[in-house]
Amino acid sequence: MKEKAKDSQFLTDIKILRERARKEIEKGAVTPGYRADRKTVINLLNEALATEVVCVLRYKRHFYMASGINAQSVAQEFLQHANEEQMHADQIAQRIVQLGGEPNLSPEGMLSRSHSEYVEGKNLVDMIKEDLVAERVAIDSYREMINYLGNDDSTTRRMLEGILAMEEEHADDLVSLLEEMGEK
Ligand SMILES: [Fe+2]
Ligand SMILES: [Fe+2]
Repeated sequence: MKEKAKDSQFLTDIKILRERARKEIEKGAVTPGYRADRKTVINLLNEALATEVVCVLRYKRHFYMASGINAQSVAQEFLQHANEEQMHADQIAQRIVQLGGEPNLSPEGMLSRSHSEYVEGKNLVDMIKEDLVAERVAIDSYREMINYLGNDDSTTRRMLEGILAMEEEHADDLVSLLEEMGEK
């Protein structure tokens, strides 16, 4: 018995954990062991959410415009990115709710909450370049958020690391498109 207690001395007693869980049940996934500043994390995630929504809209616009000028392979890339940005938005919104916050999907102020811009672009090359700028902005802001979180909220951090990896892939795809078009 004593041996066992020694083994688990760094763990909080299971009975205390259960009591706490019961008492704070209304806080959902946020337990007293949550070390990050919940409000700040929710605010940051809402900015990331706005960024993703603006990216969905910009990629969709570019998809339809590229389809119109018969640039099918580029259009398909835009569409794929739009769908993946939508997945990111959903993941982020879900995490905000888990943290006891509310996802801000109000169109009002969406663009000012977003880190990336909504630029329509005059032609195909322009569109790709604008998307690349937006991806690079997203990459930097995700990196900053990940650093900020450190070990204080590893679930959010892991989610953001997954998203960051995909934004890097997006940027890479866009660079390849520009190269194919002799633009780089
Ligand atoms: Fe994204
Ligand atoms: Fe992206």
